[in-house]
Parts: sequence; structure tokens; C-alpha cells
Amino acid sequence: MAIEIIGTGRAVPPKKVSNDDLAALIDTSDEWIRSHTGIGNRHIADESVACSDLAVEAAKNALAMAGGYTGNDPDQRDKAAEQAAAAIDVIILATATADFFGTPSTACVVQSKIGALNAMAMDITAGCTGFVYGLETASGLLSVNPLRKRALVIGSEILSKMTNWDDRGTCVLFGDGAGAVIIEKTLDNRESGLLYSLLRADGSGNESLVMRRGGSRNPYKKGEVVDTGICIEMNGQEVYNFAVKAITDTLETLMKTKIEGLGDISIERIARIIPHQANARIVQAAAKRLRIPIEKFYLNIEEYANTSSATIPIALDELNRSGQLNKGDLILTVGFGGGLTYGGNIIII
Ligand code: COA
Repeated sequence: MAIEIIGTGRAVPPKKVSNDDLAALIDTSDEWIRSHTGIGNRHIADESVACSDLAVEAAKNALAMAGGYTGNDPDQRDKAAEQAAAAIDVIILATATADFFGTPSTACVVQSKIGALNAMAMDITAGCTGFVYGLETASGLLSVNPLRKRALVIGSEILSKMTNWDDRGTCVLFGDGAGAVIIEKTLDNRESGLLYSLLRADGSGNESLVMRRGGSRNPYKKGEVVDTGICIEMNGQEVYNFAVKAITDTLETLMKTKIEGLGDISIERIARIIPHQANARIVQAAAKRLRIPIEKFYLNIEEYANTSSATIPIALDELNRSGQLNKGDLILTVGFGGGLTYGGNIIII
């Protein structure tokens, strides 16, 4: 049995906000943001756009590709996506910025909008590691049930609505976006597709990256004057240190993993590493520690900033659609984020 990726898609809001645009509103500068994070821009959704809207666009692009259509005609894309949606058995949507609090899941909203009438649908909360967790969860759900064949895995975020725009230490870091993949279970015994996932958590760091208000721990109370919405609070230094260790440990472990028929996972054997991108300096520090050339890492943080669970699937789709993924390529993903969570996937294209 193999779990193959047969379609990828992404959706990013058209509105691009540069560091200079932010510097006109808050006390920051292009120079500070670039030198401390590698971020140049972020894409920000309009007020009317919610998590499921971006997720649906990314999903339709991935579904259309799975159905054989990769062109730019919106009607043809929708037609191909609609047909492919009927064959989806599982929808897993990773997000920290769901349409609704608690229920319904954003995955159910997406299921309805794309017409995946035969699919189960659920969200998972694993911060920026959400897509890495989601891929393994979907793969497990396909593997255990002979009647399930195809899954849609999405990472989608509207972080701009959960950002405290008065906090320059966090608001410059985040952006909006969504990425999606379609995975298919084949009965061939091939060493390809999703081969292995490492999933880890360190819940002792749960307060380092937190949306403190609104949950059952700290609900808004009747009559309370709400001066800030639910927003991300972060201990930047703590998360930075955790992230460098998480990337380093995850990649080291993945590279030592023995998979029958695959041989050693040497640096030369790896075609690309797709890291979660919260700060380019985190990736650079991990690359240096592991003595992996930085060119192996696919970085697009300059354009999108940190899009949390969407970062890795957006990067996968960019590589795929620009012809940079070849059959047989070995790809490692590596993520870290709120929870705290971390992990990675080994994929052969
Ligand atoms: N513009 C200008 N100055 C800023 C700023 C901004 N946007 N944000 C912070 N500063 C200032 C601080 O106020 C501080 O000034 P001070 O020395 O006068 O007090 C100074 O820059 C240094 O702040 P510091 O927090 O030490 O910066 P840093 O080099 O540690 O970088 C982060 C801060 C947030 C970029 C970094 O800690 C980080 O990337 N952390 C991990 C984030 C992450 O991974 N989050 C998501 C996980 S999925």
C-alpha cells in the first residue's frame, strides 16, 4: 500500500502588505523586520473573508489537479474540482483560526462548499505543525479502512484577524493563506508517497504561544468591555529557542529513520526540505547546526510571512506547479508551533 500525493493547491489573498506599509502604521521598519525575520511582505484577507473561503479555493485547485486540470479557466477548474470532490472520503483541515469557535468545524463548512458529499470532515488543532499532523492523520484514516481511498488535507489561516495590531513584536510576523493536497491510497507496494511521519508535542510550553481569551479557561463575560479581540500572544525568545531545537531534532531523527527499500537519507539524497517558516533565522540556525546547505530548504517567508498551518502546503504547491518536484524526489517537511507541537514527514514524490 502507498499513500500518494495526487494534487496540490493554494490560495493567497491578493492584497499584499509590505513592511513599509506596516511602518506607516506602527513603530517598525523594513530594515528591522527583514534583518530579524527575513519577512518582506504578507498577504492579508479582506474583512469579509474567513478561513473556509481560502480553504475552499486551495482545495478546489488541489482537487482540479487530482482530476487532471491545472489550467487557469475558473469554470473548467470548478467542474474538475466538483467531479474530484465526490471521490473524497476524508477531509482534515488544520487551522488556528477557524470560521467558528468550537463548532461547526471549518472542515464541515468546506465539505459543504466543495460538495464532497461522501467525506467525513474534521479540524485539527496543532498550531503551525497542523499540516504535518494532518497528513499523518488522513493517511492513518485511509490505511485502516479498505473503503476509504482519497483524502483532502488543508492548512488554512486568517491570522490577520487574530493579530494584535498594536503589538509590533507579533503583528509583523503573520500573514493569511491556505494550501491543500489530495492524497490517494494505492494498493501497489511502492516506496513512494508519504512514507513516515514524526509527530511530537511538548505541552509544557502551552503558554508560550497562546490565544488566551474566549475559551472555557477564560471566557468573555456578560457585560465585559472587549478592548482587544482574541489574539495571539507569544513569548518570542522562548518560541525561537524551542523552534531551532525542534527543527534540528526533527530533521536529525527523520534522517536516521530506516525505511525498507529507501536506503540512507543522506543530505545528498534529500531533494528539498520544506520547513515551517516563522522566521528565516530559525531555519538558518538549524541548517548551520545540521551542516545542511541552506539551498536545500525551500523558503518563501519573504513573500508570505508566517501563515502557520498553511506554510508547508503553500510551499509544496509552489514547488509542484513550478515544475520543481520530480518523480522520485525525497522531500522532508518539518514544522513547529503552538501547543507546543513539532514534527515532520518523509515523502517521495
Ligand atoms: N520593529 C522594530 N522593533 C521591534 C519590533 C518590530 N516589529 N519587534 C520588537 N522590536 C524591538 C523590541 O521592542 C526590542 O527593543 P528593546 O531592546 O528596545 O526592548 C528589540 O526589538 C529586540 O526585541 P527582541 O524580542 O529581543 O527581538 P528578537 O531578535 O528576539 O526577535 C522575534 C523577535 C519575535 C522576531 C523572534 O524572537 C522570533 O522570531 N521568535 C520566534 C517566533 C515564532 O517562531 N513564532 C511562531 C511560531 S510558529
